[in-house]
Amino acid sequence: MPQGLFIVIEGIDGTGKSTQVKRLGEWFTAQGREVVLSREPTNQPWGMKLRESAATGRLSPQDELDYFLKDRRQHVEELILPSLAAGKVVILDRYYFSTMAYQGIRGFDPAEIRRKNEEFAPPPDRLIILDLDVDSALERIGARGDTANEFEQRDHLARCREIFLSLQDESFTRVIPSAGSLDDVTQRIVAIF
Ligand code: TYD
Repeated sequence: MPQGLFIVIEGIDGTGKSTQVKRLGEWFTAQGREVVLSREPTNQPWGMKLRESAATGRLSPQDELDYFLKDRRQHVEELILPSLAAGKVVILDRYYFSTMAYQGIRGFDPAEIRRKNEEFAPPPDRLIILDLDVDSALERIGARGDTANEFEQRDHLARCREIFLSLQDESFTRVIPSAGSLDDVTQRIVAIF
């Protein structure tokens, strides 16, 4: 049985994570690997409450952090760990690095958020940070027809980007510029493996 491989793709909104997660999954499938794609927040109850809150009014910082942790705990236990144990390639669109960034800018210490998560959430084998300047990210968000909601304001994105980039020296991290065509970005990503 092949060894499980745990890959996380992170980056601010508009960097193209979900497209690249799919494409990287297809690339591993073509290599004959079994692939599991997932995302956070999940489609489980805690994750759904978080997605709804983006439209209906944001939760308090503490509730929001608690819900992300609960959602992730379930994700780790029910999907991530069993899939890795079965030798699959698990590719996530967002993980606890997003909590460091997005809840970090709501006033929690990113290092403390990381510590809390790593009590139960395994670090990935590879963290891919899709990096894009905030103006281009906002253009892409506009281009795909989304409205700039609470989560997506310029200043917030800039601070989140900084927190993501603070992880660039970790041994598991690769920062990939996400400017250019989708194909260019995919090429840069698969070149890591
Ligand atoms: P996103 O991946 O943008 O979902 P979609 O494109 O389907 O709307 O995620 C929704 C938002 O959730 C995003 O703006 C970042 C936020 N988020 C956090 O605040 N903390 C977290 O821990 C995670 C995983 C996401």
